[in-house]
Amino acid sequence: MIEKNKIVLSFVFLLIFTAFGCTEKKAAVTASLKEMTASYPSPIRQHILSDSTGFLELMEKVLNLPPEMFVMADKKHALGENFIPKDLVKLADYPDLTLSRKTLLLRKVALPDLRRMSHDAQKAGITIVISSTYRSYRYQKMLFNREVKLYGLKTAERESARPGTSQHQLGVAIDFGSISDEYAHTPAGKWLMENAWKYGFSLSYPSGYEWLTGYRSEVWHYRYITPLGTELQRKYFDNVQQYMLMFIHDNRKKLTELIGTIKRQ
Ligand code: DAL
Ligand code: ZN
Repeated sequence: MIEKNKIVLSFVFLLIFTAFGCTEKKAAVTASLKEMTASYPSPIRQHILSDSTGFLELMEKVLNLPPEMFVMADKKHALGENFIPKDLVKLADYPDLTLSRKTLLLRKVALPDLRRMSHDAQKAGITIVISSTYRSYRYQKMLFNREVKLYGLKTAERESARPGTSQHQLGVAIDFGSISDEYAHTPAGKWLMENAWKYGFSLSYPSGYEWLTGYRSEVWHYRYITPLGTELQRKYFDNVQQYMLMFIHDNRKKLTELIGTIKRQ
């Protein structure tokens, strides 16, 4: 009888310790995430902190993807002159895509989802025209200089990336259709705005965020960040790509450690 009581007691203690350990662990996770999100807008902080388990589960999947999918290319993070993606393919080899030029190149990693998106749009009676994709450092330099000549430096800085800082150099950014504000009002522009995320394409320069991205709204410019990336962006980062990329860039190591600690316990 005494033996039985002992076993029951040990079991109760084990439960208490496990529960205590769990509470401690949860508090440590919350503290870490609070620190990482401190400089982010309150809705983003709330989304992440109110669902820390879901957030870290999805984040783990995102962190397991090749890191270059989330590399930053913006006014503060340059790729440099020598960056050329390795898996560029000629889009003209895929006649199911509609191109504005035969010379367009894109990273192969984005191709299956781009084709899937294009087919599904076509099924809905919409043609998605691909107008600009990979740009080399040299080509971007020519574009930026031309923009400066035509409109002056101030306007050029709002609309065109300096060479070495364009997402187009990554080989996963695409400009669709007319490359103009009017595109937002076309069936294709509207369809993309509603559906592109399902295929891993994220609008890079949304309206109202010039102060954050450095560029005025571009309704035609999407970056492929994979469907897991767009899911993370929508669920936890108020659907703002720049916030998500900044967060991953600044916290990759801490997040990996945090996820590792949780899994080890
Ligand atoms: N128009 C975008 C910012 C670029 O030049 O990459
Ligand atoms: Zn673009």
